[in-house]
Amino acid sequence: MKQQMQALRASSIQTILDCDNAERLEALRVKYLGKKGELTGILRQMGGLSAEERPAMGQLANQLRSDIEAAIEKRKGELSSAMMEQKLKSEALDVTLPGEPVHLGHKHPMYNVLDQIKDIFVGMGFEIVDGPEVELAEYNFTKLNIDEGHPSRDWTDTFYFSEDGKILLRTQTSPMQVHAMEQKSLPIRMIAPGRVYRKDEVDATHSPMFHQIEGMVIDKGITMADLKATLNLVVEKIYGEGTVTRFRPHHFPFTEPSCEMDIQCHKCGGKGCPTCKGEGWIEVLGAGMVHPKVLSGCGIDPDVYSGWAFGMGLERLAMGEYKINDLRLIFENDIRFLEQF
Ligand code: DAH
Repeated sequence: MKQQMQALRASSIQTILDCDNAERLEALRVKYLGKKGELTGILRQMGGLSAEERPAMGQLANQLRSDIEAAIEKRKGELSSAMMEQKLKSEALDVTLPGEPVHLGHKHPMYNVLDQIKDIFVGMGFEIVDGPEVELAEYNFTKLNIDEGHPSRDWTDTFYFSEDGKILLRTQTSPMQVHAMEQKSLPIRMIAPGRVYRKDEVDATHSPMFHQIEGMVIDKGITMADLKATLNLVVEKIYGEGTVTRFRPHHFPFTEPSCEMDIQCHKCGGKGCPTCKGEGWIEVLGAGMVHPKVLSGCGIDPDVYSGWAFGMGLERLAMGEYKINDLRLIFENDIRFLEQF
């Protein structure tokens, strides 16, 4: 028995210390120390020993068991630290390496133009207001003095939500004039940029959704001279000092008198070129003095207060400023296009 234990000691300890895998090490533990293991097998013979021999053998067996256990623990520790080392090596990360460059976007060219315009108006004491794109026909048309029979009310021109024609996608930002007059106390100086919708087919100059900027001033003693002076100033800030404008008579139901403002082509100085389509002038906006009917409909006495308003297309302005020749480019979000600005 003693020899058997010596043999087991000799073979087991070395095998354990040579073992290179945690699973196999566990298998070795079972093989040597398990219920059906080799040491147990040897101890079964204890019954055949004399009472004098037994304690010495028992002691030897216990010593062997604890030596094997110690060898297993030692190897286990070595294996797990080796594993950890390998894991650390394979997952090594050099934190001093430069990172992957992050692709940063930038502001859309149209919003550059909008921000520029907002800055100009805020600098003159105007407030920026926002309002609904889903609008009541009452605000989009009726309160703006747009008659029942007006072509812009037509089903073929406007996106209606209901059969009765009461709710629609606003076709212009002008209903913001009414919202402002109904909600704000006087005097009012505001601009209202936003999306508007019309049943237009998409082409190089049309889109069923586009942007307008509405502007309005209501106060005592406001005249057409204020309108011209303010808009001239804005145009000079956008297109440079000395930019020439002209105001042509026009008709809008919600302003009286009404006009359209053109700027002399900043490209050719009025001689005629592709930018102004040979005209020498570029139409920039519609404007006028707020109609007395619109004022009184909003509870403002037209004998005491007067005001001016304008509306302009934002895309067209951006296209002029950045020499963009197709409206669709503004909405397609093609990175190759956007990265040029
Ligand atoms: N809403 C008009 C349009 O979409 C533009 C316009 C003209 C706005 C005259 C105004 C204005 O405020 O006074 O064509």
